[in-house]
Amino acid sequence: MKRILIQLDTDPQPSVFDAVVAIDAGVDQLLQYGNVKPEQVRDLVHGAMYTRGPRDLQNTAVFVGGSNVAHAEQIFSIVQETMFDPFRVSVMLDCNGANSTAAAAVLNAGRHVELDGATALVLAATGPVGQRVSRILANEKCKVYVSSRTLDRSQECVDRLVSEGVNESRLIAIASHDQAWFEKALHEADLIFACGAAGIRLLSEEQLHSAKRVRVAVDLNAVPPLGIDGLTMTDAGVERNGRIDYGALGIGRLKMKIHKAAVAALFESNEKTMDSQEMMTVGRDILAREVR
Ligand SMILES: NC(=O)c1ccc[n+]([C@@H]2O[C@H](COP(=O)([O-])OP(=O)(O)OC[C@H]3O[C@@H](n4cnc5c(N)ncnc54)[C@H](OP(=O)(O)O)[C@@H]3O)[C@@H](O)[C@H]2O)c1
Repeated sequence: MKRILIQLDTDPQPSVFDAVVAIDAGVDQLLQYGNVKPEQVRDLVHGAMYTRGPRDLQNTAVFVGGSNVAHAEQIFSIVQETMFDPFRVSVMLDCNGANSTAAAAVLNAGRHVELDGATALVLAATGPVGQRVSRILANEKCKVYVSSRTLDRSQECVDRLVSEGVNESRLIAIASHDQAWFEKALHEADLIFACGAAGIRLLSEEQLHSAKRVRVAVDLNAVPPLGIDGLTMTDAGVERNGRIDYGALGIGRLKMKIHKAAVAALFESNEKTMDSQEMMTVGRDILAREVR
């Protein structure tokens, strides 16, 4: 039976990137819907649920994407709420690649530092990628400094993560302009993740040098100037000044593998849900296979 992926995208043009990855992941038929609004989701999902018998439904799946992450998250929730046993299909959320990128960033860092008990500083943690990096790190038992240009936004981000079930004691909201707190976070950090918007510098080379404990620095910005001065976008585990550095393209390799493997995994049963935590599992399996 043909594998059908229903691509629900919040943008007018469904992402070509996501479509290509889907085909490369073994999807036979891609059904693309753009500009998807919450009120349209129920009928779209019914079309997926009732067309094949329950035993064949593992050959149909839904992918939710688009650049508006808040809208995509809402659509992802409605897709899940619409389905019931036994008429389920697997569903994945990877709007703007935020989930697969965050998982790849943390997994790469975790190759060099034991995450349980480590301290991380997440710069520009309020965006889709930064929020997910922070959530995954806290779930891996890191202490996480959640940084933003404003304390209101970092606190809002922490509150949101806590409302999603993240352990509050692992999250500390800070503002990057608050020198005392920012220096404390830099001083304590074993790991630094720069998750700022494209073309925005968040950390100078001097600040990075002042972070004496830091063992891994990850910068997800691929548009110059990069987020962390002194790193390059192609860094993929490069040793520099006693640290291991990763740039956006260096993270992209594992990100692509996770994205593709997560789409393929949707067709293993009719009830998979692929969000950031599940993509960590997919990524761990990929790394374990590479080591063998
Ligand atoms: N390598 C990959 O495969 C991959 C995949 C996806 C994304 N990315 C990259 O990952 C990064 C994060 O993505 P995203 O979608 O989460 O980013 P985003 O939403 O565009 O921005 C993240 C945060 O950057 C901060 N920011 C925005 N403008 C700023 C400015 N002028 N000065 C200082 N800070 C500013 C904001 O935080 P505050 O307002 O709270 O300070 C914002 O919440 C981006 O660089 C993106 O291109 C890489």
